[in-house]
Formats: sequence, C-alpha cells, structure tokens
Amino acid sequence: MPSEKRETLSPAPRADEAPFEETLRPRRLDEYIGQERVKANLRILVEAARQRGEPLDHILLYGPPGLGKTTLAHIIANEMGVNIKITAGPAVERQGDLAAILTNLRRGDILFIDEVHRLPRAVEEILYPAMEDFALDLIIGKGPGARNIRLELPRFTVIGATTRPALLTAPLRDRFGVIYRLDFYDLPAMTEIVRRAARILGVPIEEGGAEEIARRARGTPRIANRLLRRVRDYAQVRADGTITRRVARQALELLDIDELGLDEVDRRVLLTIIEKFGGGPVGLETIAAAISEEADTIMDVYEPYLLQLGFLERTPRGRVATPLAYHHLGLTPPSQEAQQPPLL
Ligand code: ADE
Repeated sequence: MPSEKRETLSPAPRADEAPFEETLRPRRLDEYIGQERVKANLRILVEAARQRGEPLDHILLYGPPGLGKTTLAHIIANEMGVNIKITAGPAVERQGDLAAILTNLRRGDILFIDEVHRLPRAVEEILYPAMEDFALDLIIGKGPGARNIRLELPRFTVIGATTRPALLTAPLRDRFGVIYRLDFYDLPAMTEIVRRAARILGVPIEEGGAEEIARRARGTPRIANRLLRRVRDYAQVRADGTITRRVARQALELLDIDELGLDEVDRRVLLTIIEKFGGGPVGLETIAAAISEEADTIMDVYEPYLLQLGFLERTPRGRVATPLAYHHLGLTPPSQEAQQPPLL
C-alpha cells in the first residue's frame, strides 16, 4: 500500500516533475556542481575530441538514481555542440526500433540510453557492431530468400546510464571506452545545489535553510529539488515565505524525513531486519516480501544510501543491520546487550 510519502522521497524520476527538473538542469559543465573527478575527466575527453574534430568515445555512467546521469549526458552534448537523442533500455523493444533510431543519427550525435542494462538481448546484439564498427547488420526477408545487409552508420556516441552496472553483459560493457561512476554528493555540494535551485526558482532561502534541506536529501540532487519544493510550500503557508533553518526543519519533520534524510521506507527496511530477523543476515527477497516492496526498488533506491551511511551490510548470507543503524533508531545492538551486566 504505497503511501504518498514514499512516492515523494524515492529518487526515481517522476513524470510530473519533468518541467521543474528541466528548469533546474545545468546546461554546461561549469554550472554542474560536485562530481569533481568525473567533471575533470570529462573536460579532457571533450576537449581532446573537439581538438581532433572527432566524435566522443562511448561513455557509460553508473551510480544510484537521481545523481545527474541524464543531466551529464545533456551537458556533454552541449559541450560537444551535437544533437542528443534520448531513449531507455525497456523502450527499445525490437531490433527495428534501434535500427530506426540509429539510421536517423548524424555524425557526432549522441544516443543516450538510460537503464542500458535493460536492453533486450536481441537489441543488444545489433548494438555491438553499431558501436564498434558503425555498421548496422540487418536481415531482410524470411526463409530461403532472407539476406544479410550491412548499412554504414555515421560515427556517433552512445552514452549509457545504469544503476546496476553488474547487470550489463560483458560484451556491452567492453564497448564503452570510458566508464564513470557518480557518487552521492557531499554536504557542501548539496547545499550549493539547493542554493542554486532556490535562486533559479526565486525562493528566498537562508544559508541554514539550504543546509537543512541539503543534509536531509540523501546526497541526491533530485531529492533536494523535491524537498525544496515542499519546504517552499510550507514556508509560504506557515511562515513569511523565507526558508530559514527552523522553517526547513519543521517542514521536513512534517514530511517524516529524519535528520539523515531517512524516510518511512528506509526505517521499515532497517526495523524489519532488526525486529523480525534478529538483525540479519536476511535475504533481500525476504525483506521485500515483509515490507511489500519490490526487491529491485529496495536494491536500487533504498540500499545504496543505507550502505553509504554504514547502516547496512551486504554479506553472502544476506543483509545485516549494523550497530550504527540500531543507534540511529534508538535501539541497542545485540552485542552491546550481551555486554551489559545482568540486572540484579
Ligand atoms: N541540479 C541537479 N544536479 C545538479 C548538479 N550536479 N549541479 C547543479 N545543479 C544540479
């Protein structure tokens, strides 16, 4: 029974937020805050390709949802001065769908494939020669009259994005010349992202307010932008419109987001492991069944941040809640319980 709160906090993209995200999306590398190593590498990649007058190598971006993989793809296209065509793994159902896209590309164009690990196998197979030899191998006709034809394609660039690099087949992974991992943003970067978004939206915000939102946005800009909108509403209705630290704190408490940005689902994941399964280890599927969530959603959306906080460990036998998780939830970890002297 998904509650509204869950929807609000999941870093998965939401269609209703598209115009808002579009307004806030940085257009150039210089405007893009954080991910310094990725930016430094990209600058060299872009500059070198431009100097040689060549299209970019294929690029794979991976990392948790909401960190700006799509934004970076747009920025790369802008910096190269080329067109970008956007699609996603599950949207390319048949070989013909990919053939249609590829034959419409011009030299240097970027094809962005989100969720690239979800491309159907048959589609992947025609992507290999397209990426490697810039050729499209098609079979026309059926039965004895069927013929193979090879179409030349212009040199183009695939930017693939995935939250699950381990699910990429080896041949596909090998065709990306560069692979960058996006990490959760640190607090200074997150605070700057909130300040920038508030400035663009014309929302008055104090430094403390920006920091409070940043602190609770799980290192994820998409969540920060979402929280900013909710806090802006609160500031308008319950205060004088300015987001101060106090206003931000009150608004976020009302949304049930704690000081580390954990929401109700995060807490249920941890509490289930602790209360129902003795702290673990317990399998992901078992946790998912216990809280009526999809295992994939827990793995892609919730676990990365819990792992980053050190609240959860993945072991070969399953997930384990760490002492830090117990402390955060106001509980006593079992090892400490054992160490406590018996009550006389
Ligand atoms: N909005 C979303 N992600 C951003 C980033 N990394 N820098 C600036 N603005 C953003």
